[in-house]
Amino acid sequence: MCGIFGYIGGRTDAGPLVIEGLKNLEYRGYDSWGIACKRNGAIIVHKDAGKISGVDSSAFAEPCSMAIAHTRWATHGNVSARNAHPHISGDGTIAVVHNGIIENYQELRAELETRGHAFQSETDTEIIPHLIEEEYRRTADFAGAVRAACRHFQGRYGLLALHADSSTLVAARTGSPLIIGVMNDGGYCIASDIPAFLEQTHTVQYLDDGEMLVTDGKSILFTDIVTGEEHPKREIPITWSPEEAQKGEYEHYMLKEIMEQKESIVRAVNQDEQQIRILADAIRNAKGTFLVGCGTAGKACMAAEYFFSVIAKHHVNFAPASEFKLYHHFLEPESLLIVVSQSGETADVLEAMHIAKSKGSNVLAITNVQGSTISREADFTLLINAGPERAVASTKALTGQMAVLMLIAYALTGKLQDGKTKLLETGAAINDMLNPRYIKRIEALAKRINQNENLYIIGKSWNYPMALESAIKIQEVSYIHAEGFAGGELKHGPIALIEDGTPCIALLGNDEVTADMLSNAIELKARGGRIIGIAPQEHSVFDEWLKVPEAGPAQPIVNIIPVQILAYYLAVTRGKDPDMPRNLAKSVTVK
Ligand code: F6R
Repeated sequence: MCGIFGYIGGRTDAGPLVIEGLKNLEYRGYDSWGIACKRNGAIIVHKDAGKISGVDSSAFAEPCSMAIAHTRWATHGNVSARNAHPHISGDGTIAVVHNGIIENYQELRAELETRGHAFQSETDTEIIPHLIEEEYRRTADFAGAVRAACRHFQGRYGLLALHADSSTLVAARTGSPLIIGVMNDGGYCIASDIPAFLEQTHTVQYLDDGEMLVTDGKSILFTDIVTGEEHPKREIPITWSPEEAQKGEYEHYMLKEIMEQKESIVRAVNQDEQQIRILADAIRNAKGTFLVGCGTAGKACMAAEYFFSVIAKHHVNFAPASEFKLYHHFLEPESLLIVVSQSGETADVLEAMHIAKSKGSNVLAITNVQGSTISREADFTLLINAGPERAVASTKALTGQMAVLMLIAYALTGKLQDGKTKLLETGAAINDMLNPRYIKRIEALAKRINQNENLYIIGKSWNYPMALESAIKIQEVSYIHAEGFAGGELKHGPIALIEDGTPCIALLGNDEVTADMLSNAIELKARGGRIIGIAPQEHSVFDEWLKVPEAGPAQPIVNIIPVQILAYYLAVTRGKDPDMPRNLAKSVTVK
């Protein structure tokens, strides 16, 4: 989703600094970009459609100590330089970058037009500098004008604003994250995501919902947008290193993060045991537990339904966060909501949390990003410790989420150590599996099937959510039409789609559902399906076999990894950039 990066302080290279910061936010997904620098009492704006990766930041090197920049992911208005941010006020003195959506912008724009304002873009954002301009004309107080403008907005926003006549940078937030990087030399970076400024600082402050900040680069003041009351903030250290957030020897983040699962699963498992027990106790004592997440994180929740059923004989309910709205009828103060989110910023997940909180229910979070909005709003947070995940396609976060959820299921039975041992053995087996020969075999398979426009994946029990997840991975990076099904559901409809040579991936373990799954694979083969088995053992029905270690309940953690690699190579061998999938964003902060 859109990225924001701003700087104010003693340095005079604010232009190159914010351009490089924006490049660090590319992974969020965007289609145009722009920058505004304050120089000699004027606001200088440059905007463009397309990618920022090739832009030479030295082109913005003219001395300046205050700049804001933005990568835009089009929502209102097409992809064009005109619609890119920053947007400026009618008199050209105010520049604003904005993430989120101002839902009542049409009404506000119509009112502004009747008062003589003319607009250059089709965006909701452009009304913001115009409203600030009006308020500023009344009071000549820039921060006060931003505060007054914010009171008109309905919807979600994280915004940065500069004024040609002010030596301050102002930020405000309701719904869309903004994090402040406290620079060692006293200046401040303000960005929508921590990796943007990891090369600059490891000390952050969080702007919370309903707050704004004003800074002159030497000091910073946080206040409530509505009341103006001061909100003192702590400085918080961040443990991620800049190297962790780089591609290193890999061509793409996606492959790097797939390979990192050798270590990230172990980090997820080596949790503070006391914290795992707290979560297990909360589930045991709750009157009903809901798991919610979106997309890939939602598939981890679905797999957890099986973990809790099989390992702990305990019922939990999964709902996609975007579908949770009407579940509030079932929520009571004794209910428990567990939210799973890599970024900790997903709007639908936050909404589910707010619904649960309004019912007095407890909310626990499993996330990867320390200090994310979800982690700050939850009653209790467990981190999966996967390290920064920058590829849009989530890989190592998923296996970390499943590992943690499986540990909790074991803890619920009082057998946390058994769960840990099982998962650490699985981690070691994954380490052996991810060798260069294995990767090459999958690349070769991708080359054999990459011209097929349809691909199906089947799984049963905990491999069923992995069939759904496989489809997401393949769709999002290769654009092949992929669909996942429960093996047993095939004959109820989907089998009609199978034609001669259609690639069908079957995800198997070595367990009580293996025989059923083999029958399903045979049904597909009888209709012409070309069966790619991902399984610990070879079976005669397979046309291709990708061997995986036998892992018992951890089988879904193991089985999804070859599919992630296949999805990656399907993208690359079809000439697509897996780190920049079309139409997608890493962190979905709009609803
Ligand atoms: C797919 C993918 C998305 C995310 C979803 C939730 O590869 O990454 O489906 O899983 O947008 O994001 P988080 O986990 O950040 O809440």
